Amino acid sequence: MEVKVLKNKEEIGKFVSNIIEEKLKEKNLNNEYFKLGLATGSTPIPIYQELVKRYNENKIDFSKTITFNLDEYVGLEETNDQSYHYFMNDNLFNYINVKKENINIPLANLDNDDEIKKFALEYEEKIKKAGGIDIQILGIGENGHIGFNEPDNMLIINTGKVNLTEDTIKVNSRFFEKIDDVPKSAVTMGMKTILDADKIIIIATGEKKKEVVKFLLEKKGITTSVPASFLFLHKDCILVLDEDVKNACN
Ligand code: GLP
Repeated sequence: MEVKVLKNKEEIGKFVSNIIEEKLKEKNLNNEYFKLGLATGSTPIPIYQELVKRYNENKIDFSKTITFNLDEYVGLEETNDQSYHYFMNDNLFNYINVKKENINIPLANLDNDDEIKKFALEYEEKIKKAGGIDIQILGIGENGHIGFNEPDNMLIINTGKVNLTEDTIKVNSRFFEKIDDVPKSAVTMGMKTILDADKIIIIATGEKKKEVVKFLLEKKGITTSVPASFLFLHKDCILVLDEDVKNACN
């Protein structure tokens, strides 16, 4: 795992956008679609702002890009402003020319677990059929989760339904009116789905992430109690930090 420390969120937005732009152009020049794995949360917002800016400046064209999002809460309507569908439209998709049919986000507002299982299998198939993910963007939970792969005795392999931990419900309740409104489960790409991406860029910004970042920087080991530690198994993973979190680790 390569570590890159940058001054602030804006610099991170530019750094990650450069990597995305370069790979997108390389793929499109070869007449191939570019496949981008996307994350929600506040961390990737500066990247999305930078990508929208570059699109408006005609520097980048998303017409041959396919996106796959990491996760979605179970039970929220797509129009709910806390759903990850809403988040993605509001922060990126409404402002760039990615085609609607090329946008993939786990659908979690389904009637029962069987339907969710069926959807999860189809999601995996779609990723495979597209030829896999070229670049996966990840944020990280304060408890070390990636996507919604929460610390547990066992982690899921492929896309599926998971229960959220009390910690995550508490942390994510800041976006909801009251803690009871936070869904208790989600559908997320599994650990293998994430690790199968050609390149992974995981970003952690701000002091709040210091415990988990410290754990990763100390290269303590791989454990299901810190799902992000499995990224040490990936051959092309960059951990991008801002100075705030890096300095808080010292
Ligand atoms: C959510 C998402 C994760 C994200 C995490 C961190 O729980 N499921 O994909 O990485 O939040 O969010 P933030 O970037 O706001 O700290």
